[in-house]
Amino acid sequence: MLVLGIESTCDETASAVVQNGRTILSTIVASQIDLHRKYGGVVPELACRRHIDLMIPVIDQALSEANVSLNEIDLIAVAHGPGLIGALLIGLNTAKALALALQKPLIGVNHIEAHLYSPFMSQNDIVPFPCLGVVLSGGHTAMVLIKDGGVYQLMGQTVDDAIGEAFDKAAKLLGLPYPGGPEIERLASKGDPFRFPFKGGQVKGRPLDFSFSGLKTALLYTLKGKPPHHTPLLPLHEQDQCDLAASFQYAACEDIVRKSLLCAETCQVQTLVLGGGVTNNRYLRQLLAQKSQGKYDILWPSLGLSLDNAAMIAGLGYYRYQWQGGGDSMPLEPLARIPF
Ligand code: KG4
Ligand code: ZN
Repeated sequence: MLVLGIESTCDETASAVVQNGRTILSTIVASQIDLHRKYGGVVPELACRRHIDLMIPVIDQALSEANVSLNEIDLIAVAHGPGLIGALLIGLNTAKALALALQKPLIGVNHIEAHLYSPFMSQNDIVPFPCLGVVLSGGHTAMVLIKDGGVYQLMGQTVDDAIGEAFDKAAKLLGLPYPGGPEIERLASKGDPFRFPFKGGQVKGRPLDFSFSGLKTALLYTLKGKPPHHTPLLPLHEQDQCDLAASFQYAACEDIVRKSLLCAETCQVQTLVLGGGVTNNRYLRQLLAQKSQGKYDILWPSLGLSLDNAAMIAGLGYYRYQWQGGGDSMPLEPLARIPF
């Protein structure tokens, strides 16, 4: 079954052709980073306009790189949330128009669920259920027990900022460009992770929940001084900046790793599956490998599948279509939020 995937939840316009949920024939991602960088974050209205310009060329390129014609596509899979409503509408309306014109089924895919599906795409072996899924993206941070394909139980989530958002905000405080995650990782590689005693937040009575807003405030106070006594560390020398980035990254990653391992132990699983843009962070990958001491199988997305892409949408769309026993109807709505 050939699935055409379409992704436009935020600031990436993406399309992909995937066969039988696993084999990626093409995956095209047009990033809008250049457009949003000067504003320090995504501007929804600009994102929508850029999606309109890029959507058809990106789909054309995905088809041509896969060497597949539109008529050969069996299913159109589209991310219908969570995301920016205006941005979602561009992908969703394109998918509906194609499905109608081609008389092919349409399937709506949860973008966050697709991030969790992405590490499965490169697995040849069967992954045993239940396993623990950890979503680490720009807008979401959650741990879910994956009981079976498409069957989830929410175990913990952030009560304020998502992990990627925390990286982006920390980078902004350090005067680094958007998106902040890769910039923090780059500086952190030259810094001392133990110079500043930052810590991830704890949520009272909920050991598996996350809170990153305090971590960001700790960084702010270190930089600018704590009110009312403003005794800033500034002017910021290059080494201070690297040490702050390293200490922030350590605190954020240590919190994720400790809670993921606690959750894995609580749920008695053997496998951890991680997805979302922050899984691009090599320090996080190393820390989890080191702290888990070989106790678990750990699955990460392969190159190009961590950040937003349409291959994960097409891949999961294939399975969603089987699980549902058919496609979605045309009134399929864009959703800004989808609870697990
Ligand atoms: O999953 P994603 O592409 O988009 C959402 O669904 O939100 O994640 C984007 C997030 C951004 O916040 C970005 O700063 C972060 O992933 N990110 C990273 C790294 N690469 C991307 N965070 C930390 N380290 C990285 N290397
Ligand atoms: Zn995403």
